[in-house]
Amino acid sequence: MDQPRNRVFSGVQPTGNLHLGNYLGAIRHFVALQDTHECIYCVVDLHAITVWQDPKELAANTREVTAAYIAAGVDPKKHIIFNQSKVAAHAELAWILDCTARIGWLNRMTQFKEKAGKDREQASVGLYNYPVLMAADILAYRSTHVPVGEDQKQHLELARDVAKKFNNDYAEFGGQDFFPLPEPLILGAATRVMSLRDGTKKMSKSDPSDNSRITFNDSPEAIAQKIRKAQTDPDPLPETVEGLEGRAGADNLVGIYAALSGQTKDEVLAEFRGAQFSVFKPRLADLAVDKLSPMMAEMQRMLHNDQGYLDQVLADGAARARVIADPIVARVKELVGFI
Ligand code: TYM
Repeated sequence: MDQPRNRVFSGVQPTGNLHLGNYLGAIRHFVALQDTHECIYCVVDLHAITVWQDPKELAANTREVTAAYIAAGVDPKKHIIFNQSKVAAHAELAWILDCTARIGWLNRMTQFKEKAGKDREQASVGLYNYPVLMAADILAYRSTHVPVGEDQKQHLELARDVAKKFNNDYAEFGGQDFFPLPEPLILGAATRVMSLRDGTKKMSKSDPSDNSRITFNDSPEAIAQKIRKAQTDPDPLPETVEGLEGRAGADNLVGIYAALSGQTKDEVLAEFRGAQFSVFKPRLADLAVDKLSPMMAEMQRMLHNDQGYLDQVLADGAARARVIADPIVARVKELVGFI
């Protein structure tokens, strides 16, 4: 069995409200990696149902993420786009890796604590187990690189720990170095995009305020308006990144500008130092509309006119994903001793 050296895997949950953080932290990097890596991009519907999803909305949201990948520039002919539930290897491997991962490791996961909130007893078992399924997603393809936003760092460390322990547990039975230890790729100037209403909180799908995020469903006018209304402070922009310390709202907007323009934050500040937000915000709004609106319009077009095409992409992607994952999971079963 080949040992891949540059296989990328990543995923986005089809839970609606796809936003600028998902794009800048993850999806745009999915696009950039296509020239140098073999890429597998998943719509993680099994992860989505760790919290309740209306079945009709889940189906629509699955197509939405698929359309967003393609509209952003992922080429489904050269690379693989599929939804997780269509490839049984994910759930199968997740069970085996459940028996590798330790409860103590999962108890440390901060995202579970945030998502489960105070009423932890009422959270689904799936929500607790979420990071092990994520490890299975990555390892079912023996992936080497995983582009994600900063908030997924801890989950990727867990995936590496699971891979390490599996390799170790089965080393004397031929499993030494079986799973590569996947490298997180946390790239660019906007690895953690913050809420536009509160620069200390992450931009998220579940924030009750629609003004907190720019979504893939926003019109150009809505994008510009949300940026104009974004929380900042009365001071002008500083000369260097150090001057953004303690100014979360300002820091966030500079980071978004940098990511959209392909610059560093220092380069952005070199251009705008001393500028008031009344000058910077319209420039950011123009840039955001310019960079995002064509992609969003293309996504909407596919969703309205090309649903058959999207379903075809997913079916074709799943078939190609199975060809890679099935022999890997078959080998895992052999290593474990299943006959
Ligand atoms: P999800 O759907 O919550 O997020 C999808 C991607 O968007 C990134 N992201 C952000 N990046 C920057 N700023 C933000 N405010 C922001 N919000 C979200 C996330 O880091 C993520 O990269 N558990 C994963 C999905 C997944 C996965 C995988 C990823 C399932 N299996 C295997 C990689 C490999 C998640 O958070 O999805």
